[in-house]
Amino acid sequence: MNVAIVGYGGMGLEVERVLRARGHEVAARIDPAAPGADARSLTEEIARGVDAAIEFSLADAVLENARVYARLGVNAVVGTTGWYGKLDQMKSIVTDGGIGLVYGSNFSIGAHIFFALVAAATELSNPFAEYDILGWEVHHKRKKDSPSGTALSIAKIITAGHARKKKVVTEKLDRAPGPEELHFASVRGGDVPGIHTVLLDSAFDTIELTHSARNRGGMAAGAVRAAEWVQGKKGLFEAADFIQDVLGRKKP
Ligand SMILES: NC(=O)c1ccc[n+]([C@@H]2O[C@H](COP(=O)([O-])OP(=O)(O)OC[C@H]3O[C@@H](n4cnc5c(N)ncnc54)[C@H](OP(=O)(O)O)[C@@H]3O)[C@@H](O)[C@H]2O)c1
Repeated sequence: MNVAIVGYGGMGLEVERVLRARGHEVAARIDPAAPGADARSLTEEIARGVDAAIEFSLADAVLENARVYARLGVNAVVGTTGWYGKLDQMKSIVTDGGIGLVYGSNFSIGAHIFFALVAAATELSNPFAEYDILGWEVHHKRKKDSPSGTALSIAKIITAGHARKKKVVTEKLDRAPGPEELHFASVRGGDVPGIHTVLLDSAFDTIELTHSARNRGGMAAGAVRAAEWVQGKKGLFEAADFIQDVLGRKKP
């Protein structure tokens, strides 16, 4: 594939490494400011002959970039988080433009195995009211959005499957959480690529599930595989749709 990298920050750099390792071509590295980028925006000229765009940019840029993909007929993978309140607009852009676009808060295969474990743990604990459930995530000090998109994906899986916890609370609590509230906290600092923990806790014991990314490689590799997967497809897909194919099971 001939791929445009949109957003040449930490993830963009890692995507470039994976693309080259898998024998793909990098058509252009697009970023409004990053040193090393070779274009400030995706133009018609660059898009000619591009098979896919892989985007890890900032939330404010996502819809505008999607309009460009739709206009130029370029399929895309969007790893940027923090824009999911605008999913309806994204769906219209993708459908009207007749392109294929995969988006997701976490493209690593390991994270999706973790999602399936969280779904199973939630279901198993349901009959036992003595087990409370909560979570937290830790990310590097440069991360601009909070909570992480992955934390929101995990919280959605828990509230969809849990008998009592139906409301996600992510801000600092100056009160006890209500019985229906799932508290999911965020911590920022250091160089942590991403840690997500879910705790099932009773008076007698604790079950702790943690996914800890060792580096950005797993997420970049998943994004490149998603770009390969979306070739020739039309419509808006979640990362789970493509990983479902890889894992061969239904999304949690
Ligand atoms: N889905 C996943 O698997 C996954 C994994 C890791 C991270 N993420 C998400 O991906 C995003 C990027 O993460 P990161 O760690 O790579 O952040 P980062 O290092 O800050 O990189 C973002 C880059 O995008 C650039 N950018 C801003 N506006 C743009 C535009 N209009 N067009 C193109 N590029 C633009 C930024 O440039 P300036 O700095 O000059 O503004 C920056 O270089 C975040 O939302 C993060 O949460 C997702």
